Amino acid sequence: MGKGKILVTGGTGYIGSHTVVELFNAGYEPIIIDNLSNSSISVLDGIKAITKVPVTYENIDCKDYNSLERFFEKHQDMKAIAHFAAYKSVGESVSKPISYYRNNIVSLLNLLQLMPNFGIKNIVFSSSCTVYGQPDELPVTEQSPIKPATSPYGSTKQMCETILNDAAIANPEMNSIILRYFNPIGAHSSAEIGELPNGIPNNLLPYITQTAAGIREKLRVFGDDYNTPDGSCIRDYINVVDLAKAHVVAIDRLIEEKNKKNIEVFNLGTGNGSSVLEILNGFESATGVKVPYEIVERRAGDIEKVWADTTFANQELGWKAEIPLEESLLSAWNWQKKLQ
Ligand code: UFG
Repeated sequence: MGKGKILVTGGTGYIGSHTVVELFNAGYEPIIIDNLSNSSISVLDGIKAITKVPVTYENIDCKDYNSLERFFEKHQDMKAIAHFAAYKSVGESVSKPISYYRNNIVSLLNLLQLMPNFGIKNIVFSSSCTVYGQPDELPVTEQSPIKPATSPYGSTKQMCETILNDAAIANPEMNSIILRYFNPIGAHSSAEIGELPNGIPNNLLPYITQTAAGIREKLRVFGDDYNTPDGSCIRDYINVVDLAKAHVVAIDRLIEEKNKKNIEVFNLGTGNGSSVLEILNGFESATGVKVPYEIVERRAGDIEKVWADTTFANQELGWKAEIPLEESLLSAWNWQKKLQ
C-alpha cells in the first residue's frame, strides 16, 4: 500500500520535478498539474526514466478555478498539496507585475478555496529567502524580520505567506508549511531531470553551465566591490535533491500530524554562504572545465550576502542538506552536457 496521493502543482518545473521523484521514492503517489508555461512536457519522460513508472499528469492552469475544481472532483482522495506552480523571475516581474500578481496569488487562492470542499487539509508552499531582503544579522532565522519586497515577485511570496497565515487563523483544520528556499542548484544524479531555463538564464548556475558549454560567451560577475571577503555576493546554494527531500519530510509531518502549529515556516538552506567567485572556482575544479568571465557592474536589486540558519529545520524536521557543493556543481554540469 502506498502512502497516498499528493498533488504537485508545477510538477514539471525545476524543484517540482525533483520533488515528484522524491515523493515517489518515499512511497507516495505524486500527481502533477502544470500548464507548461515555463517547463516542458519532456520532463515527464525524465521522471519516468528514474521512477520507471509513468506519473499522472494533467495540463491545468491553477488560475483556472473551474478546471481545478473538475480536477479535484476526479481525484477525491489527495492527502496533501505541494504548491510549486508560480512565476519566478525577479527581473520579469518588474516588467510584468500584473501577470505575476495574478498568476502567483490567484493560483494559491484557488487552491485554498477548493481544499476544504474536498477535505484536503495539508499544503506545503514554496517561498523564498527573498522575503528577508538584506538581513541585518546573519545567518537568517525564521524569526528574522520580513523586509519590504524589492520586486513584484518578492511581493507575491510575501503576500502568499500572509494569505496562508490568515487562512490558518480562520481555519484551525488547515495545516500549512511554508518553506523558504535559499538558492537551489544542481540536478538529479541520474542527469534525467534538471533545470531548464527559458532563454538566457538569469540565475548563476545555469549561466555558468551554458558558458562552460560554449552557448554563452562569458559569465558576467555582477560586482566585486561588495563588503564580502572577495568582493562578490554571497548566497546559500542548496542542492535541489536535498530541497526536494525536505518537501517529503514536510508532507510526512503534515499527514502524520506531527506539526506543532497549524502553520509553520522553515528555512531550507545549507547554512553555508558561498561567493559568486567561489562558485565559479568550485565549478572549474569540480568539472575541470574553464569558464571565461568578466567582472561587471553590480546588478540592480542584488542582496550583498545571505545565508540560512537551518537549526529549526534540522531539529524540527530532522532534515539536513547533505549533498556537498562540489557534487551539486558537477551534477549541474552533467545535466547541461545531456542537454547538448
Ligand atoms: N550572478 C552573476 N552573474 C550572473 C547571474 C548571477 O554574477 O550571470 C550573481 C548574482 O549577482 C548573485 C548570485 O550570482 O550574486 C546569485 O544570483 P541568482 O540570480 O542565481 O540568484 P539570486 O540570489 O539573485 O535570486 C534567487 C532566485 C530568486 C529569489 C532569490 C532569493 O533566483 O527567485 O534567490 O534571494 F528570489
